[in-house]
Amino acid sequence: MKRNRWDDYYARRARDEKWLARSIYKLKEIDEKFKLIQKGGRLLDLGCYPGSWSQYGIKNAGLHGDVVGIDVNFPNRLSSRNFRFIQSDVLTASLDLLAGEIGPRDLVLSDLAPQTTGIRSTDAGRSMLLAHRAAEFALLLLKKKGNFVCKVFENEDLTPFKAKLSRHFLKIRLFRARATRKKSREVYLVGLGFL
Ligand SMILES: C[S@@+](CC[C@H](N)C(=O)[O-])C[C@H]1O[C@@H](n2cnc3c(N)ncnc32)[C@H](O)[C@@H]1O
Repeated sequence: MKRNRWDDYYARRARDEKWLARSIYKLKEIDEKFKLIQKGGRLLDLGCYPGSWSQYGIKNAGLHGDVVGIDVNFPNRLSSRNFRFIQSDVLTASLDLLAGEIGPRDLVLSDLAPQTTGIRSTDAGRSMLLAHRAAEFALLLLKKKGNFVCKVFENEDLTPFKAKLSRHFLKIRLFRARATRKKSREVYLVGLGFL
């Protein structure tokens, strides 16, 4: 049988383990390294559809956890009493209005990714715009000592982005997950200890 090019080890494993997307293994690896999700944690998941990161957050934050997911697409396969979904475009929505609805967070996650055009400079620009927007959410909503995880792409815009965030966190790390496809320039910026 001919395999779809996306039907790789992680995609098959996600299906077997009943996760909603293969990207779960990226967050799992990040969390295992940096110990970000605590019991009772309050999380924000930006770009949450189809829902594997929120699913992981709900599971690991436990009974008293609180996960809010935002996306333009409705995660119809995800439901939990500890999960609230806000359908919104993060680039155009009012940050202040959303902040009131979401409330303070221990961890802000962003796996936001634009629809790709195949034109490298356009795609990189759009991703960086989403990363900056995710950082605005984090700076507004994180509690002191909170943490931030944000998908970014390795290019010349990453250094100033990292420099901007380093003023707000005790430590900044760049993390490349094993589940990231070999050809991709995707890395995760991890901001630890919001100041
Ligand atoms: C790679 S997917 C996220 C996968 C998710 N972490 C998971 O594990 O299921 C990126 C998501 O970002 C969302 N997205 C992109 N631009 C957005 C925007 N401006 N506002 C809200 N969501 C956006 C897309 O709809 C898409 O669902």
